[in-house]
Amino acid sequence: MAQVQCPNGHLYEQVTHSACPSCPAPEQAASFSGSDAQTVLPAQAASGLRASGDSTLTVTDNRTAQTYTLPLQDGNIRALDLRRIKVHPDDFGMVSYDPAYLNTAACKSSITFIDGDKGILRYRGYAIEDLAEKCNFLEVAYLLLLGELPTEAESKEWEYKIQHHTMLHENAKKFMDGFHHNAHPMGMLVSTIAALSTFYPKARHVTDPDERMLNVLRLIAKMPTMAAYAYRHSRGFPYVYPDNSLSYTQNFMNMLWQMTEPNYVVNPSLARALDVLFILHADHEQNCGTTVMRCVGSAQADPFLTMAAAAAALAGPLHGGANEEVIKMLDEIGSVDHIPAYIRRVKAGELKLMGFGHRVYKSYDPRASIIKKAADEVFAVTGSNRRLDIALELERIALQDDYFMRRNLYPNVDFYSGIMYQALGFAPEMFTVLFAIPRTVGWLAQWQEMLEDPEQKIARPRQVYTGPELRKLASHP
Ligand code: ACO
Repeated sequence: MAQVQCPNGHLYEQVTHSACPSCPAPEQAASFSGSDAQTVLPAQAASGLRASGDSTLTVTDNRTAQTYTLPLQDGNIRALDLRRIKVHPDDFGMVSYDPAYLNTAACKSSITFIDGDKGILRYRGYAIEDLAEKCNFLEVAYLLLLGELPTEAESKEWEYKIQHHTMLHENAKKFMDGFHHNAHPMGMLVSTIAALSTFYPKARHVTDPDERMLNVLRLIAKMPTMAAYAYRHSRGFPYVYPDNSLSYTQNFMNMLWQMTEPNYVVNPSLARALDVLFILHADHEQNCGTTVMRCVGSAQADPFLTMAAAAAALAGPLHGGANEEVIKMLDEIGSVDHIPAYIRRVKAGELKLMGFGHRVYKSYDPRASIIKKAADEVFAVTGSNRRLDIALELERIALQDDYFMRRNLYPNVDFYSGIMYQALGFAPEMFTVLFAIPRTVGWLAQWQEMLEDPEQKIARPRQVYTGPELRKLASHP
């Protein structure tokens, strides 16, 4: 193939490229500023401003020897600015390849802050430790959704509003009756959340803030009712209607466990422990389920359908399903003596230590520390638990082991939450449901924030295509 030389001395094949691929594209060349050959990107070029040195990033493309100056916003580049980096003018432009979003911020958010290296978790600026100690779950829900903790009067009004949406439509009960007797409660919950969409057709008006808030209240209020009905269905027990004279967690426990007694009394220490667990699980910024919530919500699906999708993600064993797996693992280990052999299998790659490791936390998950402390109060009521002994010893051994230390694998929230849930009287198949109830608040807060963010659009990532070029279909039988 014929090779030509461009004025800058680069050799290239003219048949493939009309212009020298190593030289700046005409529009890039036009925006070069001075002898350092920096490309000023459109935002800056349009405003005629050169970004100051500390708010830009300079990138040199070694394929073309071109230098680009990318503006920084909040210390980060905009992925779209990479599109200016091209070898040929008709190229699509560079994308950032980031499978599983390991280093991609898809939104700006003022709800939850995590520093995974330091083990910090804050909701709206408040440390999770303070919130777990001093607030109840509905106050934290108010904080996450509305940005501030409620006053006493606001708190009462908020609780009242939620309590008055706890009932499920009777037809929803009939719908739930159709599930197989051994259906997993998470499957029932996800389907019932989606089915609520059919009862509230106006919910599709997601740009109407009043309609949105009404459905936020409905979802927070009805989640415990749906969860309890799913459980009662799997046990063949009659459904227990909500009792609005009880607190959020007491009402849930009452709907789960009231049998023939006229006044089932929930132990207040256990209800408080569940309330703390709900606070710890209320939000966790852009995790898998929340990302689904934002993604489906960006298509303006109604909040019931959107949240059903988020809850479906949570059901996975690598996400909210891990706490159920932890209990299975502890039972499989069976006794403290068997731990070294189990750890050997984990290190050989045969198994994962469930409840260990986290995409974000590379130190102790602060939620696991709070649960570990709260466990003492629960076990003071319920008596000691064999699984806790195994878990504590497993943690002790793992945290001294080079395999776990080198990979920064520490207990996550799920390591101890399952043990707590079981001590509180919940069956393992209910654990992820117990995660979904409080996470409803985080999902809805993130959904609202996404809908109100003028920078957001329907979510639609790019791909790097690795399949064949156009192929001719000669003949096909
Ligand atoms: N047990 C043993 N090894 C592990 C574990 C584990 N639990 N978690 C990670 N590793 C190892 C990986 O095998 C990998 O080792 P390698 O470098 O030799 O290949 C290394 O640690 C890094 O792990 P990744 O899988 O790359 O970490 P990632 O961030 O993708 O995964 C996850 C995070 C999914 C939570 C993972 O740690 C895991 O599967 N843990 C067990 C399930 C669990 O507890 N999930 C709950 C998460 S918290 C939540 O969702 C509420």
